[in-house]
Amino acid sequence: MRTPMQDSHHRHINYLRLSVTDRCNLRCSYCMPAEGLPVFDRGELLTRTEIMTIARLAVGLGIRKIRVTGGEPLVRPDIVELLDEMGHLPDLERLVLTTNGLRLGKLASPLKQAGVSGVNISIDSLDKDLYREITRGGDLQRCLEGIDASIEAGLHTKINVVVMSGVNDHEAPDFVEFVRTRPISVRFIEYMPTRGKDHGKSLTLPTAELLQRLNRQMPLEAIERSGGLIMAGPARNFRIPGSLGNVGVISPVSCKFCDDCNRIRITSTGLARGCLFHDSGLDLKPWLRPGDEKGLIEALRRVVNDKPSGHQLDQGEGPDIVPMSQLGG
Ligand code: GTP
Ligand code: 5AD
Ligand code: SF4
Ligand code: SF4
Repeated sequence: MRTPMQDSHHRHINYLRLSVTDRCNLRCSYCMPAEGLPVFDRGELLTRTEIMTIARLAVGLGIRKIRVTGGEPLVRPDIVELLDEMGHLPDLERLVLTTNGLRLGKLASPLKQAGVSGVNISIDSLDKDLYREITRGGDLQRCLEGIDASIEAGLHTKINVVVMSGVNDHEAPDFVEFVRTRPISVRFIEYMPTRGKDHGKSLTLPTAELLQRLNRQMPLEAIERSGGLIMAGPARNFRIPGSLGNVGVISPVSCKFCDDCNRIRITSTGLARGCLFHDSGLDLKPWLRPGDEKGLIEALRRVVNDKPSGHQLDQGEGPDIVPMSQLGG
């Protein structure tokens, strides 16, 4: 089996985040402006065959885990067929998905059958009015049904809560209660200022403060990281005695995880990026569309080699707009 690729900062790269569409059936306030973002023409989006070419070559280069993202990946009409093909790639150890969950009620079981092992589901409030406000129109009940369907289908299920100070931070204990009776993890994520330098900087609640608040109400026992490069994502996880589920925190701003970063990204139009921030990306289409696989392999290697060391959000640097719905978070 191939050893992982290494970047110029000696990090092993074995994880690909692959966005399969820039479209979404929600417009979360921290991700998009109210009017939404312009979407790419359908002809610009990669076809299933093109996505599979990239996935196959990436696995050949040592990628062991693919996380399929969007926009919302489950609005792509051929998503189950695509995942089924991907799930059959020899040497791919883990195929997972990040979704808003609205279509999981119907799709959880077909996804499991296709070879998906886990889903991360975004849910930023358990209050139906606040959920609708944050997502600009989303139906909480459908998301909850999606979570239940995912558990029932046997998918490893985590829920993602982007914590925003003064908006939904008061709900953290409710989420902890939510996972007490469910075998899933809730991960509290620090809001990243991805909508431009001046958008909502004061929304970021440092993880340390959140943990302090939770700790006053319940004992949190740190879970040691395990699973090596593939399993150990950026979350720090905690167990609560008597709870079926776990609690995790992801701190991209206050405690960045760039030194351990093992990932690259490819967008739904074929732009390969070494980093969520600081990187305009390399367009793979000039090699992909004529079917030049040698050129593609070289291009992927170049993206890995040129991967930036990390971001400087922790030093007050605000990025320009980072279109999360195109980059898949
Ligand atoms: P696994 O490690 O595969 O379990 O996934 P994850 O938790 O990294 O992925 P998920 O899509 O659930 O993202 C959770 C949060 O982490 C989101 O807010 C993402 O935007 C953020 N995130 C994921 N990858 C990166 C990254 O490479 N850099 C930064 N700064 N944030 C990331
Ligand atoms: N800050 C933190 N997390 C974000 N996500 C999207 N935008 C942001 C942001 N500005 C999260 C989504 C989803 C994941 C892909 O990225 O909630 O869970
Ligand atoms: Fe919300 Fe994700 Fe859609 Fe952005 S891409 S609007 S975060 S569901
Ligand atoms: Fe990796 Fe860039 Fe994210 Fe840091 S900001 S963890 S280097 S993708």
